[in-house]
Amino acid sequence: MTVTWRRLSPSDYDDVIAVLDDWWGGRHMSDMLPRLFFEQFRDTSLVAVDGDGAIAAFIVAFVSPAEPDLGYIHFVGVDPRYRGQGLGAEAYRRTFDAFGGRGCTRVKAVTSAANVDSQAFHRALGFAVSESVVDYDGPGEDRVVLTRSLVIDPH
Ligand SMILES: CC(C)(COP(=O)(O)OP(=O)(O)OC[C@H]1O[C@@H](n2cnc3c(N)ncnc32)[C@H](O)[C@@H]1OP(=O)(O)O)[C@@H](O)C(=O)NCCC(=O)NCCS
Repeated sequence: MTVTWRRLSPSDYDDVIAVLDDWWGGRHMSDMLPRLFFEQFRDTSLVAVDGDGAIAAFIVAFVSPAEPDLGYIHFVGVDPRYRGQGLGAEAYRRTFDAFGGRGCTRVKAVTSAANVDSQAFHRALGFAVSESVVDYDGPGEDRVVLTRSLVIDPH
């Protein structure tokens, strides 16, 4: 399966939101991905488009304004039809490169404590996965924190 990668655009908002809950297994997710991410973080966010012009994967990421050495990945999603083919890993590889080019030395993401698939994906990509943090994003919204160095260990 061949995809074309390009930067995320504000005009992708409707297409991404249309599939978002389905891609997240029916969870209501759109409140966590407002249009401002498509506008303000488009320079560091990507979509992969399939041969039919449909979005096959997307990643929303940005360099932390508070910690400029930190790249933060807010959302990554792959069309269920295309999972297990390396698209998620490719989105991260491209984003790590972009972060490195902007001076970041580490990367962080946060995912639901219940999302064991996301945790397995991040472990496979070399992230450390924290213990579950109770009420991290409010009552009943437990999360795990995912961290990884972007600096290659020469040893
Ligand atoms: C998580 C997600 C992005 C992974 O995308 P993907 O394209 O299927 O992942 P890849 O094929 O690139 O896999 C990369 C690595 O992660 C591993 N991996 C991916 N999903 C996994 C799963 N559910 N269980 C175990 N390992 C998994 C792969 O085995 C691979 O490891 P390897 O390099 O050792 O072979 C995708 O399943 C998804 O969109 N899930 C719903 C949205 C979501 O939860 N996003 C993350 C939170 S924001």
